[in-house]
Order: sequence, then structure tokens, then C-alpha cells
Amino acid sequence: NPYRIAVMVGSLRKASWNKKLADVIVSMAPAQLDFRFVRIDDLPLYNQDEDENQREPVRRMKQEVRSADGVLFVTPEYNRSIPGVLKNAIDHGSRPFGDSAWEGKPAGIVGASPGAMGSALSQQHLRNVLASLDMPTLAQPEAFVQVHDGVFDSKGGVSDEPLRMFLQGWLDRYAAWVAKFA
Ligand code: FNR
Repeated sequence: NPYRIAVMVGSLRKASWNKKLADVIVSMAPAQLDFRFVRIDDLPLYNQDEDENQREPVRRMKQEVRSADGVLFVTPEYNRSIPGVLKNAIDHGSRPFGDSAWEGKPAGIVGASPGAMGSALSQQHLRNVLASLDMPTLAQPEAFVQVHDGVFDSKGGVSDEPLRMFLQGWLDRYAAWVAKFA
């Protein structure tokens, strides 16, 4: 059976580069990986008062993460960190204390930005967060994808051949990483 991977995209906008990148990665998935997108746009703002009575979207998200063998984060960079919507989802999944959905799940991080750093600083911040959640996170290769018009084609493929090859190699490394923890 393939490993099930929960995909968390840190941008909610329709034309998101990161969503496109996630779609491309999912379409390139090797047979060992079964990617499932996890919705985060309907989560309330995290409020610790609700820890003992988490709302339905929160319970659903945690269940989807729990049933996965690993988690792929595809994140933009907002002001040199991860977007609040992604941090909100992560915080929800980590609580109540002792009932985290993240613990031990092998993680992969990729991200896209039109900027030259390709979301590198956001990804570095995310590594800090995932370490505290005890998620073993693939260290290399790092995937800082600088995007521009024409990188992806209209059929959801990658026009940029070096990028396509890089992503294929990254996926193989991530699949091997997940297998280590299965
Ligand atoms: C940005 N952007 C941005 N880019 C970057 O490389 N470093 C940064 O620190 C920031 N900061 C930032 C803050 C906020 C609030 C916004 C809205 C945007 C630009 C960002 O990379 C660009 O909008 C991407 O297209 C966002 O990703 P999606 O939505 O296309 O996936």
C-alpha cells in the first residue's frame, strides 16, 4: 500500500503559486505516495478556551492528519515567515496538550515565491516549529522554488525542465524518508 501524505498548503488564494506547485507535485507522485489535500480555510482562529471542545473543522483536520503517514507542507513566505493561516492550522493540530496530531509524522517542506529566496526564510521558520512538534523533517534537498510566469504549463505540468527534474528527485528522497518512519 502507498503511504498516505497529508498536504497542507499555506496560501488560500485561488491563483496561488504554492497551490500550483502542490498540484504539480501531486501529479508527479511516485507510486509509493498517495497525497491528500487537507483543508485549512474553514478553521476558526485558534483559541485555547476551545481545547476541550474542538470544533468540527478542527476535529476533521486532525483526523485527516492522524490517518496520514506523513505531511507535506507547501508554503509561501509572508514577511519572512509562514503565513498565519498555516500556523493557525498547525497550532490547532497540536492541541489539546498531549493530543497532537503531528507527533512523529515525517514531514517534507517545499515552497514557492516570486522572490529570489524562493520562500527560504519561511521554510527555515517552519523547521523550527516542526522540531518542537517532534516531526522528523527531511533536511535535504531543500526546495526553494522561484516562480515566474511560464514555469508551469496550462495542463498542470512543469515547463521548466530543470525544475521538473529537481521536483522528481525531491519526491524520491521524500518517499524514502517517509518509508524510514513507517
Ligand atoms: C508576501 N510576499 C513575500 N515574498 C517573499 O519572498 N518574502 C516575503 O517575506 C514576502 N512577504 C509577503 C507578505 C505578504 C502579506 C504577502 C501577501 C506576500 C510575496 C509572496 O511571495 C507572493 O505574494 C506569493 O505569490 C504568495 O504565495 P501564493 O499565494 O502565490 O502561493
